[in-house]
Amino acid sequence: MIYSYPGAYAQLLNNLIQNAIIHAFEFKKENAIIKIVLSLDENVFMFSFEDNGAGMSEEIKETAFDPFVTTKRNAGGTGLGLNISYNIVTQKLKGTIELQTQKGKGTKFTVYIPV
Ligand SMILES: Nc1ncnc2c1ncn2[C@@H]1O[C@H](COP(=O)(O)OP(=O)(O)OP(=O)(O)O)[C@@H](O)[C@H]1O
Ligand SMILES: [Mg+2]
Repeated sequence: MIYSYPGAYAQLLNNLIQNAIIHAFEFKKENAIIKIVLSLDENVFMFSFEDNGAGMSEEIKETAFDPFVTTKRNAGGTGLGLNISYNIVTQKLKGTIELQTQKGKGTKFTVYIPV
């Protein structure tokens, strides 16, 4: 049970799921796996969201949380999903978000929220 902002978590999760479907698994239809891990340390709630899809280029990785960064500019992407996610985590939830990704291997977001 978490006492927090359910709308913030819903929006965060929704952005990550949408990205996994649209970006990570665009061309990968088999063995597509999303792994979600939740854990609670003494005073840190950790939440990770990992896919085994397309991954990001080094260039996109460096700017992924900036507004309007998208590789789908002419295909409905606005490039705001990860920026909003970043703001939800850092401002609303007072936490941090880390990104690990490798082209062709997959992407992992790890969120740390102080309890
Ligand atoms: N799980 C992922 N796998 C591979 N690339 C990703 C993943 N999540 C995000 N990206 C890359 O990061 C970019 C920025 O993501 P972001 O969610 O901010 O924008 P978007 O999905 O393109 O547009 P929007 O979310 O505003 O509809 C994406 O365009 C994509 O290139
Ligand atoms: Mg998105």
